[in-house]
Amino acid sequence: MRGAITKLKGFADLYGPELAIFKTQEVTAREIFARYGYDELRPPLLESTSLFQRGIGQETDVVQKEMFTFQDSKGRSMSLRPEATAGVLRAAIEAGLAKPDQITRLFTIGPMFRHERPQKGRMRQFHQINAECLGSDSPYADADLIAMLLHFLDALGIHDLNLKINSLGCGSCRPKYLAELRRFLDAQPEDSLCDDCKRRRQSNPLRVLDCKICTEQIAEAPRLREFLCEDCSRHFETVLALLNESGICYELEDRLVRGLDYYMRTTFEVVSGRIGSQTAVAGGGRYDGLVEELGGVKAPGAGFACGMERLALLMQAPEVSKPDFFILGLAEPCREAGFLLAGKLRAQGYSGLLNYASGSMKSLMRQVSRSRARYCLILGPEELAGGKIAVRNMETGEQVESSLECVAEFLKS
Ligand code: HAM
Repeated sequence: MRGAITKLKGFADLYGPELAIFKTQEVTAREIFARYGYDELRPPLLESTSLFQRGIGQETDVVQKEMFTFQDSKGRSMSLRPEATAGVLRAAIEAGLAKPDQITRLFTIGPMFRHERPQKGRMRQFHQINAECLGSDSPYADADLIAMLLHFLDALGIHDLNLKINSLGCGSCRPKYLAELRRFLDAQPEDSLCDDCKRRRQSNPLRVLDCKICTEQIAEAPRLREFLCEDCSRHFETVLALLNESGICYELEDRLVRGLDYYMRTTFEVVSGRIGSQTAVAGGGRYDGLVEELGGVKAPGAGFACGMERLALLMQAPEVSKPDFFILGLAEPCREAGFLLAGKLRAQGYSGLLNYASGSMKSLMRQVSRSRARYCLILGPEELAGGKIAVRNMETGEQVESSLECVAEFLKS
């Protein structure tokens, strides 16, 4: 026998209860997002690497360390998408949907790929439910997105979550803050920062703020919110006021800078204390320059993504529905009659199975109970000759005889 081929590290086969939970998430997202006017868009999983370099940022961990990138036979560099936003915006630009004077609301559901160290809640192939609102820079768009995210999580029955929120400012106020932050970081003793942060201090100082290693060193770092310009302050205050008015609780989080470079103004994350060290179940924010950066017109935007594996850790599998019938055809002409009866019942909307081969009554009944069917319909030569069928209620064990024509009456109950 040849050795079995197994799945790759950080990749999972989805089936059974976990798949059932994923389907619940998908159905619920479609239902809730439709109430907010979102349409589905499905971009490809593979894109030009330059899309992510330009969209997510050359200096981010995602682009520098985590993409599955390869060259095709013509030497073009392509990458499996590490997130959906860049691809959705590229597709929206190509389809003429990203316009400054028109609001376009899009959602997408599917797998993403990041070459991270796998652990609980962190996979190399994981799945996101992603929403993007293009064409508005209003704080109402941010608040509506957050409200939709929380509505969705509530509809999934997940309640004990915390919303963290911050503002990253804009192109006019952030540079002043970055200069101040660099000054602060430069004043720290050379060896007090981790190797990544020593590099980021110059290339991307904002990212030092959410380093898990350097928390003590940056405790006294200047706060971005104190540097916001008037427009950014007003924008953020309106978002917070709308959340307050809607009864949405949040925590202001100075260090919430997010790992992708396109964010400006509002950023947010929803975290859970019940799923281990990877606490973020969803994250998002505003990215007003991104459509232009990707070659589109000046169209602002904001969005979020939920991690489906992490949401699944907080959900119970739904009850699996039972088939209505299992038809046991005991000998050859009976099996064929059973096959035809199964077809008729399914056409009437009932679900059910039948035996494909004969066997001992014991092994056939094992098949029936494994199927969890509500009724076992037994068709032997005697029944067939009389146009009848035995109907056994698998829950009570009660068995009666029915005419072949009327058997559907039993399944109705
Ligand atoms: P993100 O924070 O990188 O944002 O990912 C969003 C969510 O995806 C995370 O909160 C987490 O639940 C899940 N996630 C991320 N990486 C993994 C992983 N390796 N394994 C399992 N789950 C993971 C984005 O991707 C942005 N594109 C969100 C966005 C949309 N911003 C604006 N629009």
